Order: sequence, then C-alpha cells, then structure tokens
Amino acid sequence: MTSNDDRVPENRYESPRAWRDVDDYFSRALVPEDDALVAARESGARTTMPNAEVAANQGALLGLITRISGARRVLEFGTLAGYSTIWFARAVGPEGRVVTLELEEDNARVARENLDRAGVSSQVSVVVGPAADSAATLIAQGEPPFDLVFIDADKPSNPIYLDAALRLTGTGAVIIIDNVVRNGAVTATDSDDPRVRGVQAVTQAIAAHPELDATALQTVGVKGWDGLIVARRR
Ligand code: DHB
Ligand code: MG
Repeated sequence: MTSNDDRVPENRYESPRAWRDVDDYFSRALVPEDDALVAARESGARTTMPNAEVAANQGALLGLITRISGARRVLEFGTLAGYSTIWFARAVGPEGRVVTLELEEDNARVARENLDRAGVSSQVSVVVGPAADSAATLIAQGEPPFDLVFIDADKPSNPIYLDAALRLTGTGAVIIIDNVVRNGAVTATDSDDPRVRGVQAVTQAIAAHPELDATALQTVGVKGWDGLIVARRR
C-alpha cells in the first residue's frame, strides 16, 4: 500500500463538513430528486460498491451535458444501482437509448428495479458481463454510434474503455470519465495503485489522441475530492 492508497477509501469517501454542506445547499435548491432517484441512490448500499454512485448535483450535470449536446444515444461503463443511468435515460428522452454495462448480475438486478421505478426501462439496456467484452460485442455487432459515453467502471480498465468508446462514437461525441482525481493521487507518477495508473494512462491517451479536445475538473463535495474528464471528439 502506498500512502496514496490510504487517502482513497475503497467504498466511501471522506468529506469535510463544509464541502457536504455546500453540495446540500445547491442540491436542495437546484436538484430535486424524485422518489425513484432517492431509491436508486439509497440502493447503492446493496451493490458491490456502496456510495460509488455520482452525487445528485453530478448526476444533474450529466443530464445537462446530455441535453446540451443533444445526445440521443448514451453508452455507460459501470451501472451499479443505475443512479446515473436514470439521469441519462431521462435526458435522452423517450426516443433516446442508454446502453449500460455492468459486471455483476446482482448489481444489474438492483439497477433494473430502479430503472423500472424511474419509468425508463424501455429506453435502457443493462448488459451484464465484463464491460470490455460487452463493448467488444457491441463493436462486432455493428452497433450504431453513441453520442455520449460515460466511463465509470473499474479504473484500471479506463484505457480499454476509451479505446472501445472511440470505436463506438463519431464526430462530436462527448466522452466523460468519472473519478480521475482520487484524493489527489492522480499526480503521483510513481503510484503502483492500478486505479491511479488507469486514470493516468487514460489521461495520456486522451492527450495523445488527435481528435479529442478535453479538460479535467476537480470536484469536492459529498463524494470527497475527486473529479472528471470531459472530452469531445472532433
Ligand atoms: C470508486 C469508483 C467510482 O466509480 C466512484 O464513483 C467512487 C469510487 C472506486 O473505485 O473507488
Ligand atoms: Mg464513479
């Protein structure tokens, strides 16, 4: 274990009170969650990664980016209880489609319940299995391009998921990657944490890709100190 591992709890983020209070202030004011979103968030506790779902204000941001970009087809790596999936499904609207890839059948079962409750089941496919395999199947089957890809699964595989995302998108596509700061561990160039290395590798891959414009933002709040990369394909 490196010292950075100690600063990145496995299933839960530590979060200073003031950060949580500010998230609560804006989420209460701007991000009303209906019963289905509350249930999805709370049922995260029944998945293999309790508390790993995005915060309410982050979910709202994902929904807004989806709508701002006019995305109709969204691909998500990492479903868990389907909290962000609901935000995407509502943002793409009844004619849109979300394909979400989940490793664990038990998590997928929780997600399907939540998607049902949210009234978005008909727009969403939950695909169970290793996300790299599921994405390879989509590629092999000639899946039409996605407009937005959210990468939020096991972090060591981030570069593989970016490669798959690039095979499943075209010009103008948006690619968002969650959890790229990891309590600041991202800057530890000597890190032997495979999750940190996955973030660093995908950052370098984006930097080297001739068609990707990107930025990264740090976030603090109920999910501690983390952040996301937002990229767009030229
Ligand atoms: C982790 C993964 C997530 O997707 C998240 O939002 C928080 C934490 C993790 O691997 O620790
Ligand atoms: Mg995440």
